[in-house]
Amino acid sequence: MQYSTSLLFYPAVRLYRRMRRRYKNLNLRLRGVIVDATAIIDPGAILEPSGGGIIIGARTFIDFGVIIRPLGGVVEIGDDCSVNAYSVLYGGGGLRIGNGARIAAHTVIVPSNHKFSDFDKPIKDQGLTQIGITIEEDVWIGAGVRVLDGVVIGAGSVVGAGAVVTRSVEPRTVVGGIPARRIKSR
Ligand SMILES: CC(C)(COP(=O)(O)OP(=O)(O)OC[C@H]1O[C@@H](n2cnc3c(N)ncnc32)[C@H](O)[C@@H]1OP(=O)(O)O)[C@@H](O)C(=O)NCCC(=O)NCCS
Repeated sequence: MQYSTSLLFYPAVRLYRRMRRRYKNLNLRLRGVIVDATAIIDPGAILEPSGGGIIIGARTFIDFGVIIRPLGGVVEIGDDCSVNAYSVLYGGGGLRIGNGARIAAHTVIVPSNHKFSDFDKPIKDQGLTQIGITIEEDVWIGAGVRVLDGVVIGAGSVVGAGAVVTRSVEPRTVVGGIPARRIKSR
């Protein structure tokens, strides 16, 4: 019987791919990154545990150019979320993103602030405050949004493009602007 060369090599290639995937997952896990097997991480995304942890849920999509850097905290992203191109998610005081959240391109989420009350000391030497940020389930964050430390964005809310969210948002509320204010309820 005649087999083409590629057919003969196919089981070996499949085994190699499976081993490589397993090694990559194990390697990530050892570095403090837990990614559900069904999540899709673009090869151009950077998941850098930086002394903290990263948890990514089922079917969640992390796009090209996204940087996730917990900086000693934990960044936890739920199931069925999307984090789009060039968004930056820091950990600091902790970042929790609920199931189904959509995060549009160029969003920056920063659960941390420099202290700066002492004028006689460089800001770099005054330490940080870190409270943490929670984005509840089914939230849509528009393009280019900034979310600052201590904020809770309630379930089912929408944050308009370009907003700077400085205060918590009630569930099912549409907000926009700098600083973000309520536009309407859903
Ligand atoms: C916030 C948003 C969802 C509101 O949409 P909408 O319900 O159709 O609201 P409207 O366009 O009717 O606007 C309602 C009011 O909010 C204001 N508004 C809308 N978007 C705003 C924004 N991003 N920032 C500040 N104010 C905004 C409008 O000017 C309007 O104000 P007015 O009543 O004083 O005229 C939408 O404008 C938006 O920002 N979408 C994000 C798009 C995006 O980033 N997509 C990325 C790909 S997923």
